[in-house]
Amino acid sequence: MSAPVGGVCVTVLLVCVVGGRALDLLRLTAPNPPSPPAVACRCASYPNVTFCSWPEPAGSQKTRYEATCRERNGPALTRPCELLPPGSASSDPTPAASASSERLWRCQLSSLKLLTDYIINVTAVSPAGSSSHLSSFMLEDIVKPDPPVDLRVSPAGRSLLVQWSAPPTWTNLDIVPLKYHILYRWGGGVSMKTANLGPFENTRVELKGLAAGRTYLFQVCAKELLGLGRCSSWSSAVTHAVPKPPRVPLTS
Ligand SMILES: *[C@@H]1O[C@H](CO)[C@@H](O)[C@H](O)[C@H]1NC(C)=O
Ligand SMILES: *[C@@H]1O[C@H](CO)[C@@H](O)[C@H](O)[C@H]1NC(C)=O
Repeated sequence: MSAPVGGVCVTVLLVCVVGGRALDLLRLTAPNPPSPPAVACRCASYPNVTFCSWPEPAGSQKTRYEATCRERNGPALTRPCELLPPGSASSDPTPAASASSERLWRCQLSSLKLLTDYIINVTAVSPAGSSSHLSSFMLEDIVKPDPPVDLRVSPAGRSLLVQWSAPPTWTNLDIVPLKYHILYRWGGGVSMKTANLGPFENTRVELKGLAAGRTYLFQVCAKELLGLGRCSSWSSAVTHAVPKPPRVPLTS
């Protein structure tokens, strides 16, 4: 009597194990719906150049995206956010931000109204399903210029002249001016010192009181003059060594 019962048990167990494996295999091979894209929006030239971007997850080539925008409290009218697939545009406003190997999708919004809440909807669509990222923003809160360019440092008598140019992508400089901060560093490792100066409305500043014989590293960032949004990323760095004063030879 006991032997057949044992046999049944074994059979049931085997079915369970085989069944479990089959389920796991199904889980591994069945395509999952995409996860919602991690969208960030930035206005790189107030008020009319706004990009939203999100990384393309690895192995999601069959995923396509739909991006729309609408006013939060306005008519239920959606407008497209114009899609720019990874690597499609030479005009990537933030090459520094996408320094990793991540492929970045972007979409461009134009003619947004000032002081208006918008809702952006970016939906990832794959054969296995879809999922949406929804977030709201007001243009004034997401202003972040591209970094200033063409930073130069030169000696000017006993001081240093630091000069740069406004980010070329900030197209309305006359109507919407920028202000700037200078970051400079010296020393290395644990004894590294930093100083943050500004804001400056000019694109050239004379710095006094820098120590002879020291090497400094300079960077600048740009922010909308009235303080909308955030300062840009720091520009590329320029180093400058302040020469030691010439030694006066001792004569006897
Ligand atoms: C942005 O707006 C300004 C005036 O407000 C206009 O001159 C300029 O052509 C616009 N730029 C773009 C890219 O739409
Ligand atoms: C977001 O967009 C997708 C596809 O474009 C749409 O199916 C979905 O309803 C939208 N979600 C909202 C809350 O508008």
